[in-house]
Amino acid sequence: MESRARIQLATSLPGVKPVALVGTRDARGGANLAPFSSIVHLGSNPLLLGMVSRPDVVERHTLVNILGRRCWTLNHLHPDLVRAAHQCSARYPAHVSEFEATGLTEHHEPGFAAPFVAESRFRVGLELAEIVDIASNGTKLIVGRVTLVQLPAERLRPDGSVDLEGLEAVASTALDTYFGITGSLRLPYAKVPDGSSRGS
Ligand SMILES: Cc1cc2nc3c(=O)[nH]c(=O)nc-3n(C[C@H](O)[C@H](O)[C@H](O)COP(=O)(O)O)c2cc1C
Repeated sequence: MESRARIQLATSLPGVKPVALVGTRDARGGANLAPFSSIVHLGSNPLLLGMVSRPDVVERHTLVNILGRRCWTLNHLHPDLVRAAHQCSARYPAHVSEFEATGLTEHHEPGFAAPFVAESRFRVGLELAEIVDIASNGTKLIVGRVTLVQLPAERLRPDGSVDLEGLEAVASTALDTYFGITGSLRLPYAKVPDGSSRGS
């Protein structure tokens, strides 16, 4: 396939993905934002999330900043944030803050170096746990321990689930397509019906 079509197909193969703005800070204090969609839940206790960074054959500000400061933020999107978030994927030079370039607002938490996006309704702070090198293609799985979660109280249900529909959370596919989400269906924990157990 022609290379652009190949990328389009390859990045569509996982189907619907999350998307969030990753906030980091460089050694000189400059803020950086980039959209990431390779975010994955790795475990609940400790609470771990992972995301994949492209190979560091060119400058990867998010990766460099995470290695330096050992922390980052995930800032989930809603429809009004999508255009600015997408613009943050442009290759701005290191000294340009994507906050300033796109008009987004920094939100600071005491004792946490990485910047949050004030306009985001659902924000997560993480500290670096480890980086796993994917030998097959030079990508890196960045693993973080969640240390902070911020969302409006009415969007956190008593059972611990998050009302993503109420937050108007945005999903994505490929590197250019964004979706709203509607019509969630919640089902009880699935059990094997009586009499059809798998055995030992
Ligand atoms: C919707 C979307 C999802 C993206 N997901 C990822 C991702 O999961 N990993 C990655 O390395 N780059 C991803 N990118 C590309 C980065 O956002 C882009 O390379 C950006 O310039 C990186 O900025 P940085 O050098 O400041 O880290 C994505 C881009 C878009 C538009």
